[in-house]
Amino acid sequence: MFTVAKRALATIGAVLAMSGSALAAVASADPIKIGHYGSLTGSEATFGQSTSNGIKLAIKEFNAKGGLNGQMIELKEYDTRGDAGEAKLAVERLCKSDKVAAVLGEVASKLSLAGGPVCQEAGVPMITPSSTNPKVTAVGDMVFRVCFIDPFQGFAGAKFAREELKAKNAAVLVDQAQAYAVGLAEQFVLNYKKMGGTISTEQTYTGGATDFTAQLTSIRSSKPDVVYIPGYYTDVANIALQARKLGITAPLLGGDGWDSEQLAKIGKDAIEGCYYTNHYAPDQPDAAVQTFIKSYKKEFGGSTPDGLAALGYDAANILFAAMKKAKTPGGRDLRDAIADTKDFAGVTGKITINSNRDATKSAVVVEMTGNPPEPKYVTTVTPE
Ligand code: PHE
Repeated sequence: MFTVAKRALATIGAVLAMSGSALAAVASADPIKIGHYGSLTGSEATFGQSTSNGIKLAIKEFNAKGGLNGQMIELKEYDTRGDAGEAKLAVERLCKSDKVAAVLGEVASKLSLAGGPVCQEAGVPMITPSSTNPKVTAVGDMVFRVCFIDPFQGFAGAKFAREELKAKNAAVLVDQAQAYAVGLAEQFVLNYKKMGGTISTEQTYTGGATDFTAQLTSIRSSKPDVVYIPGYYTDVANIALQARKLGITAPLLGGDGWDSEQLAKIGKDAIEGCYYTNHYAPDQPDAAVQTFIKSYKKEFGGSTPDGLAALGYDAANILFAAMKKAKTPGGRDLRDAIADTKDFAGVTGKITINSNRDATKSAVVVEMTGNPPEPKYVTTVTPE
């Protein structure tokens, strides 16, 4: 205790003895820490990895331009392994031990629901780049997102199924262990029925399951025109393989949880001709999108960024813009500046944070086509 105090006094003394420019150098030598918690391993590993890449690219660019008035941004990152308990621990570590100014993450809504209350309690602003379940930001006023929410994504999927695919009967297959999948299925069904569609059957599974025969057999006998599967990519790819084997030829339709290069790696041609709603499509002609893709490919050895990478990049850049505007780059000052985000030109579209701390944005629909299948832009659905 005494030595610590003595050392602190000595440091203050040294700083006081310095000239103005040396003082600035001390200030800029001290980085601002920000946190990221994400699934870097496990069955949703590409979610965390892509988000991490997007964040790191944004940090690199921001620091190269001088950071926050000379202060560099430093990233602290923990793996959640796709587990809610790990997610909570990771955010506790970030807020309490690392004392980060802000937290980015998680991707999966269930995990953001585990981390959000920790940030709220600690008074540390959190921005989830990609959790779409409405409950995530309802946790409290420190929690934000830069993506659309599932009542809209469900509407977009239903509209596409009814108007573009002209599907009358839809079967639904839901991962009952994920808040995201349950919420999105509910919204799809609600909107689809409103638009005059019929739900032929609703089936459930638990993420990580390997045998979907029972559910798919029921789905096959309900003769759907489309099968809506609002799950995560590993399960969806396995479901697609088994569905085709069982002779289901209807297109499969899903949400952003499909967004991973692993979808086609596992699902191969079983996933061809299937569609999902997403935040961004790499083949959109938009100039900002194309610049981002170029920098990302250069930084990460040629791989095309998915929607998670794009959202991670946007979330980090929105955080830095808020840090620049905030009276102090942390706590409630930073919170207020994030809440004030208007018309931010992100690679996933124009971002304005609304009074629920969510973003109102359009969605794209992509189709898996080619050999191997890759997501290709089909259309944009705009909120009404
Ligand atoms: N929206 C999903 C969720 O809330 C996460 C996700 C976003 C997955 C974007 C892939 C792409 O759980």
